[in-house]
Amino acid sequence: QEDHKGVKHLCEMGITRVPKKYVLPALERPHNSITTKPYDDADNLDLPIIDFAQLHGTNHTQLIASVAYACENYGFFQVINHGISNDVIMKMEDVGRMFFEQPLEEREKYMSTDVHSLVRYGTSFNQTNDGVFCWRDFLKLVCNPDAHSHWPSCPSDFREMGVGYASKTKLLFQLLMEAILESLGLGLANTKKTPKTYQKSGHNNRGNKAEEYDDIRKEIEDGSQLMVVNCYPPCPEPELTFGMPPHSDYGFLTLLHQDEVEGLQILFKDQWVTIRPHPQSFVVNVGDHLEIFSNGRYKSVMHRVLVNSMKSRISVASLHSLPFTTVIRPSPGLINNENPLRYKDTNFTDFVQYITTCDSKQKNFLESRK
Ligand code: SIN
Ligand code: FE2
Repeated sequence: QEDHKGVKHLCEMGITRVPKKYVLPALERPHNSITTKPYDDADNLDLPIIDFAQLHGTNHTQLIASVAYACENYGFFQVINHGISNDVIMKMEDVGRMFFEQPLEEREKYMSTDVHSLVRYGTSFNQTNDGVFCWRDFLKLVCNPDAHSHWPSCPSDFREMGVGYASKTKLLFQLLMEAILESLGLGLANTKKTPKTYQKSGHNNRGNKAEEYDDIRKEIEDGSQLMVVNCYPPCPEPELTFGMPPHSDYGFLTLLHQDEVEGLQILFKDQWVTIRPHPQSFVVNVGDHLEIFSNGRYKSVMHRVLVNSMKSRISVASLHSLPFTTVIRPSPGLINNENPLRYKDTNFTDFVQYITTCDSKQKNFLESRK
């Protein structure tokens, strides 16, 4: 019962050992992963850094090529000079931290296991189904304007900071998607001239590709957004459990701000490697929907979070996709004889169905879409 109140609560009760509910079987522990090479502390990975100041500069072509390279080979990159001020980011981190520092009675008001709820305080990964719990408490916030009034009113500036941060990250998502569409050959620049192949078949002089581009842009603009503030308190026995178990993200892109404490690892060339926090950058990763949309060219890569015994860690993830009702499918512009269709269509209902049944051993929604 106490386990369902979260790990912050366990720490506040003064536990000195990890309760049974959090202890992974020996072979599934962070440093004994049988599916990967042994973990080595020296294996920090320098993710590709994308300098968004180049988006409209003379190095535009180079920037688009780097985006493609990162999405194909890492599924992750860090973006710098992204135009969101450090002040906005730090204020979000602060109100997030302050939310978790409040007494349990205040946090508990938002506790729910309903996946449709507009605001949800919870623990572990998927509390209802996880056999073994993980060392994370989280606050999930649906970001459409109707949802804001349901967000926590304490700390007093939580909503204001949260709304500001959400709108800035949404705009950055749109910019990132412009670059990503262009890198896939689906950008505005690719549709301005009517390509020969479309001249005969198109109804207008812009062609099918241009129409497809207009549609996807509109859906990106109207897309869904979910924010998750994650809190990983110090863990007395960090080698026995995860902050988050290996999983891939569901949507198009996730924009992550992590504080200065390490913890995030990604699977790179069959090895778990730590993503060192880079100040003032966002970690951006390809989600399942973008892998599907790109027909497998871009990869939704597995990642996980480790905890430590010394420091509490806070992260803020902003998850973006198309509207909840939109069917996600490979872009017709990317399907041809050499690249046949590789994924099944999906929508939000499939996902809800999936998360209400999966447990901590199967965190890969994408596998069911291939
Ligand atoms: C994630 O959202 O998968 C990772 C978040 C984190 O680094 O805490
Ligand atoms: Fe994730």
